[in-house]
Amino acid sequence: MRNEQGIAIVDRDEDGVDRAFRQDVLKGLRQRQKAIPARWLYDDAGSQLFEDITEVAEYYPTRAETEVLTARGEEFAELIGAGRAVVEFGSGSSVKTPLLLSAIAPAAYVPLDIAGDFLRESAAALGEKLPGLPIYPVEADFMRETPLPDAVEAMPKLGFFPGSTIGNMVPRTAVDLLRSMRATLRADEATAPLLLIGMDLVKDRAVLEAAYDDADGVTAQFNLNLARRINRELNGDIPLDALRHEARWNDEFARIEMHLEAQRDLAFSICGERFAMAKGETIHTENSHKFTRRSSATLLLAGGWTPIARWTDAKKRFSVILAEATEQREAP
Ligand code: AVI
Repeated sequence: MRNEQGIAIVDRDEDGVDRAFRQDVLKGLRQRQKAIPARWLYDDAGSQLFEDITEVAEYYPTRAETEVLTARGEEFAELIGAGRAVVEFGSGSSVKTPLLLSAIAPAAYVPLDIAGDFLRESAAALGEKLPGLPIYPVEADFMRETPLPDAVEAMPKLGFFPGSTIGNMVPRTAVDLLRSMRATLRADEATAPLLLIGMDLVKDRAVLEAAYDDADGVTAQFNLNLARRINRELNGDIPLDALRHEARWNDEFARIEMHLEAQRDLAFSICGERFAMAKGETIHTENSHKFTRRSSATLLLAGGWTPIARWTDAKKRFSVILAEATEQREAP
């Protein structure tokens, strides 16, 4: 459900149950391949576990992207120029965002996020690090076109979408998002908007699978937390000890998939509805697509953005791409 500004608000029934969560879980578990949308991984415990994942030795994306943002500041400044309003899709990270902002002399910073409290806290923390930079937090769902504050209307824009979060979407959703970013950043204006986006790269299968199945089991806890959340919030009795975290590389779709696999035949109920899983059957909980130079360019072009520069970390594990909003044409 959305309020009049288009912001999704939690719609709860008389027992306090999040209706959208219940609907996604029940619908997803009735399917032949059981699947639950990845966004439900991120309750408070899940968000903290994701922060912990970024610190484990096997999970390279955060460190690799930070390496690029640290090393390439001068090139960003030259290509992007000073005086842009930087619109970040999602609240800024305490490490990556200041690296970009301090490199390019922006005129303003607009973090855009659905989680209002988190948004205001991270905006305040950033304000302390970069005094003098005007910051205009906007509480909104970045998957949809969003009006920006009047104060930044006349400024040229740079969108910032780090973390390879685009990889958690199937291509169709990723294209929809890229197009709505274009609309939010006003691609029709005289100075074409730019987008700086992190996209993780296809690499050795063992490196990828280890990054999503670390030896300390932090990613396993992140995945299992979803079943724990279902039991707590949706009156479920899924036997947690009978589920195992699995990270598998799907080569056809170039993505890591997270699954919860039944270790024996199981039966459980959620909100009074009965479900069964045969031994070996899985619940698919997340996709993390990985890109090549070509596949990243194709996705960006489909979303209305032309790549103009591309950087990787020294070990070529992760790419950061600068793209320009393309004029929409049907033919060459
Ligand atoms: C948030 N996102 C980019 C992470 C990723 O790498 O796909 C989520 C994640 N899932 C398991 N580990 C990290």
